[in-house]
Amino acid sequence: MLKQPSRLRAHALLRKYSEMETAVRRVRPGDADRLREVRLSALRDAPSAFASSFETEVVHPAAAWAEAAEARSSGIDDATFLAEVGPDCVGLIGAFRRPGRPGVVELVSMWVAPELRRRGVGRLLVEQAVAWAGDTGADAVELWVTRGNYAAIAMYRNSGFTLKNEHQPLPSDPCRDEVRMVLEVPRSSAG
Ligand SMILES: CC(C)(COP(=O)(O)OP(=O)(O)OC[C@H]1O[C@@H](n2cnc3c(N)ncnc32)[C@H](O)[C@@H]1OP(=O)(O)O)[C@@H](O)C(=O)NCCC(=O)NCCS
Repeated sequence: MLKQPSRLRAHALLRKYSEMETAVRRVRPGDADRLREVRLSALRDAPSAFASSFETEVVHPAAAWAEAAEARSSGIDDATFLAEVGPDCVGLIGAFRRPGRPGVVELVSMWVAPELRRRGVGRLLVEQAVAWAGDTGADAVELWVTRGNYAAIAMYRNSGFTLKNEHQPLPSDPCRDEVRMVLEVPRSSAG
């Protein structure tokens, strides 16, 4: 996974990435280390964006990451998608169903490496997760986003989500609030 780049390194990375395509794929059972690295990078980079924290997850044992990669690699209850540029994992998104709500998929854990932002990687991740939701029979996709996270709110709006008048405390920092956004899955992909 990418480390926080110096300005020079960031330029070199941008040059390198501008020649490569971003690919988004579902996590595989053997991706435990990759999943751990990208998720911890996300928690370290953007602590106020997530319900969990770096301190909570850095102590998860290897077996827990292996179990997560395995569980999210198949089936319709829980999925993680990774964005990759060449050999580097540069982003992720999670999508899951709560028991008893098969028609609704929730998105979580959305993150793109800072040096790759504003290049459509986030949009690609959301598209992939929404397509998965539709293909597996969902008619709505929901998420919670921290109030004031303008980049994320703009990105979700750009992908068709609308803000709902619902909010709750952010579990990792109850001084902050998160707001709900919803997308109706187009019938053609839900069909
Ligand atoms: C939110 C985040 C995932 C966006 O990823 P990204 O790859 O930069 O997003 P994209 O390049 O796909 O942007 C798609 C659209 O979203 C909007 N957008 C994205 N970032 C924006 C910003 N900083 N300011 C305004 N609009 C923004 C734009 O409309 C953009 O389209 P455009 O570039 O054609 O104008 C990224 O900023 C991130 O990882 N933030 C930290 C973690 C986080 O906040 N996660 C969300 C948890 S709910």
